[in-house]
Amino acid sequence: PNRPPVVFHWIPFFGSAIPYGMDPYKFFADNRKKFGDVYTFVLLGRKVTVALGPKGNDFVLNAKLSDVSAEDAYTHLTTPVFGNGVIYDCPNHRLMEQKKFAKSSFTVPAFRSYVPIIVEEVRKYWLKSPQFFGQDPNRVSASAHLMTAMPELTIFTASRTLQGKAIRAKFDESFAELYHDLDRGFTPIHFVFPHIPIPATFRRNAAQKKVSDTYMEVIRDRRQRGDLSDFDVINAYLKDAIYKDGVRMTDREIANMQIGILMGGQHTSSATSAWALLHLGADPELREALYREQIEVCGESLPDLTYENLQNMPLLNYTIRETLRMHPPLHSLMRKVRSDLAIEGTHYVVPKGYYVLASPGVPMMDSNYFKDPTTFQPSRWAETKNEINLDDSAEGITISKGAKSPYLPFGAGRHRCIGEHFAYVQLGTILSMFIREFTWSLPEGRGVPKADYTSMVTLPSEPSNIIWTRRK
Ligand code: HEM
Repeated sequence: PNRPPVVFHWIPFFGSAIPYGMDPYKFFADNRKKFGDVYTFVLLGRKVTVALGPKGNDFVLNAKLSDVSAEDAYTHLTTPVFGNGVIYDCPNHRLMEQKKFAKSSFTVPAFRSYVPIIVEEVRKYWLKSPQFFGQDPNRVSASAHLMTAMPELTIFTASRTLQGKAIRAKFDESFAELYHDLDRGFTPIHFVFPHIPIPATFRRNAAQKKVSDTYMEVIRDRRQRGDLSDFDVINAYLKDAIYKDGVRMTDREIANMQIGILMGGQHTSSATSAWALLHLGADPELREALYREQIEVCGESLPDLTYENLQNMPLLNYTIRETLRMHPPLHSLMRKVRSDLAIEGTHYVVPKGYYVLASPGVPMMDSNYFKDPTTFQPSRWAETKNEINLDDSAEGITISKGAKSPYLPFGAGRHRCIGEHFAYVQLGTILSMFIREFTWSLPEGRGVPKADYTSMVTLPSEPSNIIWTRRK
């Protein structure tokens, strides 16, 4: 059988860990020149076959369940953080149903209820955060460090909307630190050595238990009070989490699912909001066009934003879409191969035990699909929309479904993201709030920072601050 070519490396176990880990896109591009779209590299003892381009995305993301497994690729990393019985610590058919159980929290009526809550949380945050108004509500200008501010804004808004008031309140107490501990146990090191005996690992394990126990208390409390009227995800599971075969999700599993959902949306959304603010800081004209859009859609007095307003702001949604094109948070989506797998259109067979890797970010920055791909240009979406075959959802937010699209920041196939629409609502609301309240720029002489690939999502490298000034 024909194996894909292997990237040369000097050190046996490590393989290409360093060049891949430092800059995966450069690593993919360099080797593509030598080998084409398909090749294998060694990553800390694993053999990983890369399949680039839309065809590669389709090959990996739409592979048959009997051929590849996401849980075998991810469980070592995710299970110690999320806990047992959910996401990648259960058979795939369970995960598919777990994703469906959350559905009622991701509907239009739910989003309608979330927008005012996000607005309120952002206001509260500005008033409390020393980087914004802090003790002085009349402050007119300051510098804000985005990689502190945006993760906080993201977790406050996501926990309040998706998990309710009681959980949101915990973030003013012990929860923030516990989630930090979970984060610090969710690193590339843990991907390779899930149980490496270092303090971060012990703290991760302790935090998992405490956070999960807290969700269980809230679950019991809700059940006792019998009020499941809010749209949040805890209620969604309390109402609907019975599998087709009659098995009910346990309270522990519902609790662990909450960790998985919050973590799934945390770094992805906060990185995206930071990138968007940085690009707008570098492009005042675009920022002002977005301000005019707020006024055109909502009126001169700028009353509080609604979900419907967001649907009528194409430039805002294009800005989010363009941010995700240039900075998709996840650069590598992996599956473990379960049985020898032929790659269509090539003579290669990927053997069982290998991993396959898709990188949706590669076609998104390819001039074959996007003109001037390194230019941040939201207006391109008004023009190219139909050409690249995107399906618009009824709500006016674009969702790309087929894996053959060159634009797949949310993945495709059975593991596709359930949070896309929520992310647009959350990002759209937070960005609108910034656009209405401030003008901002990057510090003197600095452009949009380069990407830092060494954490689990693609972040702006430091320093990542903006200088904001309050609008009159
Ligand atoms: C899956 C991206 C926000 C929950 C995925 C996948 C991608 C992705 C690429 C596919 C992973 C794979 O195939 O291996 C993003 C981006 C986001 C975002 C770019 C924001 C800008 C969210 C939010 C939530 C969420 C807000 C929850 C509220 C999930 C879940 C899955 C998923 C549950 C399914 C995992 C699976 O089936 O294996 N996301 N995500 N994501 N995401 Fe998101």
